[in-house]
Amino acid sequence: MITKMSHLFIGGDWCEASTGEYFDVLNPATEEVIARVPDAGSVDMRMAIDAALAVQKSWASTTAAQRSKILLSAANLMRDRAEHLAQIMTLEEGKPVLEAKGEVTYAASFLEWFAEEAKRVYGEIIPANAPDKRILIIKRPLGLALAITPWNFPAAMITRKVGPALAAGCTMIVKPSELTPLTALEIAKIFEEVGLPKGVLSVLVGKDPAPLVKVAMDDFNVRKVTFTGSTSVGKLLMKQSADTMKRISFELGGQAPFIVFDDADINSAVENAIIAKMRSMGESCVAANRIYVQRAVLEQFTSKLVSKLAEFRIGNGLEDGVQVGPLIEPAAVEKVELHVADATKKGAKVILGGSRGTNVGYFYLPTVLTNVTDSMLITQEETFGPVAAVIPFDTEEEVLERANNTHHGLAAYYFTKDIGRVFRLAEKLQFGILGANDGLPSTAQAPFGGVKESGLGREGGHHGIDEYLDVKYVSLGGISS
Ligand code: SIN
Repeated sequence: MITKMSHLFIGGDWCEASTGEYFDVLNPATEEVIARVPDAGSVDMRMAIDAALAVQKSWASTTAAQRSKILLSAANLMRDRAEHLAQIMTLEEGKPVLEAKGEVTYAASFLEWFAEEAKRVYGEIIPANAPDKRILIIKRPLGLALAITPWNFPAAMITRKVGPALAAGCTMIVKPSELTPLTALEIAKIFEEVGLPKGVLSVLVGKDPAPLVKVAMDDFNVRKVTFTGSTSVGKLLMKQSADTMKRISFELGGQAPFIVFDDADINSAVENAIIAKMRSMGESCVAANRIYVQRAVLEQFTSKLVSKLAEFRIGNGLEDGVQVGPLIEPAAVEKVELHVADATKKGAKVILGGSRGTNVGYFYLPTVLTNVTDSMLITQEETFGPVAAVIPFDTEEEVLERANNTHHGLAAYYFTKDIGRVFRLAEKLQFGILGANDGLPSTAQAPFGGVKESGLGREGGHHGIDEYLDVKYVSLGGISS
C-alpha cells in the first residue's frame, strides 16, 4: 500500500485545503487506499480564480513563442516521466501500465501540438463594404477557463484542454475527477517545473465537486467551461453557464456503433473492434458499444473476436502481461452487470465472460454477447465496460438507420472495402468522429468532438485552439484611395 499526501496546486503554490479535510484515493484493483488528498472547498476555488485573474493580462501578452516553449518543455518532461506517471495512473485508475504509458504519450502529444498551434493564431484582412474601409480580424484569448476532467483518461483529457488554453493565452483552473486526482497533481508539478508563471494554472481536487464547480460557474470572470463527462452533467453545466454567458465546449457521452460489412477485411475488423472496445477496459466515450455485423460474416467475425478476447489476461495493471485491468468503482461493475442481465433476460447469449471473475477489485471479464437486439439496455446506453454486444444486420440502409437511432453522436466505426460506401457513410452517419477501417481515430491532429447530445466544440486539430479565442474585427475607415 502506498500512502501519499498530496497538496492542491493553487496560484502556483502547493497548499492544504482550506477545509482542513482530506479524502481517500483507492486502487480499483485492490480496493486499498493509495493516498489521502486535500479536499478543496469554495475558498480554494476563489483563491484559484483570483490568482488566475491576477496573471491573466500578463500571460495573454506573452509572445506565442514564449507560451509555445513552456508547452513544449512540459510535453518533453511528461515523456521523460512516462514510467512514473503511468505507475500513478494505473494505481488510481486501473488501466494496465503499458496502456497508461501510451496515454502519457497521447497526453504529451496535445501539449506538443498546441505548442505549435500557439504560433499560428493568424488574423485576416477582409475586403470591406466601402472603398475607404478595410476589415481586420484579430483573435484574442477569452480569459480564464475552467476545465472539468474525467477519470477514464486522467492525463490526456487534461492536456487536451490545458494545451490549447495556455497556447491561446488563457489561464485555466483544472478540476479533475475525485477518483483520479494524483495524475492531475503530477501534471501540475510538470508545469511548475518548466516555469509556467504562477497562477496561470491551478489544479483543485475535491471529494464533492458540485459546490466547488458552482463557485466558478457563478463567477462572471470565468469566461469558459470545458468539460469531458456524462451528458447529464453537461446539460447541468450548460444551464449554469447561461447566467454569465460562458463559452462552452463539452465532450459528452457516446453510443458508438461499430459496423462490419461483409466485404471488410475481417481480421482487421476484429483487431480494430478489440481496440475500440477494450481501450481503458471499455471505459471510453468512443468505445464501440454496438457491434453491428452483416449476417454473411457474423459467424466468422464473432468466433475470431471470442478467440482473441479469451486470451486476454485480466488482473492488476501493475503486473507484467496484464491486458485488462479493473473498472473504476463498484457502481461501474454494477452497471455492466445490469446491462448483461437485461440483455440475457431479453434473449442475448453470453458466449464469453459474463461475470466479475474475482471477488477482490472492481473487475469484469472481457465478455461477448450475441443475439443482441436494439431493445436491450446495452444498445441504448453507454455500457462503459468490456462487453462486446454483437448485433446482426442485413443491409446498408438498415444499419445506417439503426446506427443513427440515438441521441448521441460522438464516434462511429465502419469496416468496408467499398470506397463509395466509405464516402456515403461518412456523410450519412450522424457522428462527429468516424473511423472508416480504423478503430482508433483519436489523435491530437484531429478535431475530436460530437454532435447531438454528445457535445459541443472540438478538441485537437487547428480547430481546438479556436475554442479559447474570441474573434474580433476592426472596421478601419478613412483610407483614401
Ligand atoms: C474519452 O473517452 O473521453 C476520450 C477518448 C479519446 O480521446 O480517444
